This record gives sequence, C-alpha cells and structure tokens, in this order.
Amino acid sequence: METTLIILKPDAVQRGLMGRVISRFEDKGLQIVGAKLMCISDDLAATHYEAHKERPFYAGLVSFMTSSPVMVLAVHGNSAIAVARKMMGATFGSNAEPGTIRGDFGVSNSFNLIHGSDSPEAAERELGLFFSKGEVMPFDRAISTWVYDMSGGDPE
Ligand code: RTP
Ligand code: MG
Repeated sequence: METTLIILKPDAVQRGLMGRVISRFEDKGLQIVGAKLMCISDDLAATHYEAHKERPFYAGLVSFMTSSPVMVLAVHGNSAIAVARKMMGATFGSNAEPGTIRGDFGVSNSFNLIHGSDSPEAAERELGLFFSKGEVMPFDRAISTWVYDMSGGDPE
C-alpha cells in the first residue's frame, strides 16, 4: 500500500474540476486520506520543483503554481503512485490519452491540471512538504473488504 501526493493545479481549481477529479480517484477505489485548499508560496514551489530548476520552463511553472489556490491531496491505496500517474496521463494535455485526467479535461501543455508524485521517494518527500503531521489521516473504510480481496490477510 502506498500514499501519493496529488496537486490539483490552479487551472483545475479555477475551472471547477476538483470534484470530478477527486471522484475519479474514489471511483477507482483509492482513498483520500488528506485534502486541503492552499496557496503555494514561491519558496514551496521552488523546493517542490527543484529538480527542474535549470529547465527553460521552470520560471513559468513556478509562476503558474503560485498564481491561484491549489488543492493538495494525499491519496492512498494499492500501488497508488503508479496508478495515479496512469490516471493522470501524459504530461502535455495535447497528447495525453483520452480516458486520462489530462486527456479528458485539458489541451494545454503548461496548464496540465494535476501533479502526482513519480516514485516512493518523491511521494514521501512531497507529502512532507505539503502536509504537516496529523493532516494525513489513514482511516478504516467500511467498504475496504469489497475494494480489496483480503482473504490472504493482505489487500490483493
Ligand atoms: P508533474 O511533476 O507536475 O506531476 O508533471 P510530470 O511529472 O508529468 O512532468 P515533469 O516532467 O515533472 O514536469 C513538471 C511540470 O513542468 C511543466 N513542464 N513544462 N514546457 C515544457 O516543456 C514543460 N515540461 C514540463 C508541466 O507543468 C509539468 O507538469
Ligand atoms: Mg514530475
């Protein structure tokens, strides 16, 4: 089981897509274990995207991410990191596959609606950047024994 950091970027919030994107994760069986609306500071955007510091799109990316509120989510489930990345689709809206979040809701390459951690190390780091202790709260779901096969003891 994994927990991943998802950010519904400023364009997703402004366009009123939060509910529909969250529903996709819930429909899949993933569990929302943390959620808040927030404004990302310049410092936080710089830390979050520090791997891209030298890239030509970096300044525009930081400016976009700090331009308007975002919704940050902690999303939990079996292989949640890879599953969420597949659900998001390719980076650019113009070539993201239909059926994915970026493929269905956007066509822009820069305003691409959503961020998702790309590895277990990134997820741990990014959850720590955006959520303080106690804000991520795994809880028992009544439906979990129908989302997962628990007959072997572990979720399958
Ligand atoms: P993210 O980190 O936001 O989940 O997106 P990603 O893994 O699919 O893409 P990544 O390569 O990590 O790039 C981070 C964000 O930078 C913007 N970008 N612009 N103009 C460009 O060539 C370009 N390349 C990347 C996108 O907003 C991308 O989500
Ligand atoms: Mg990335």
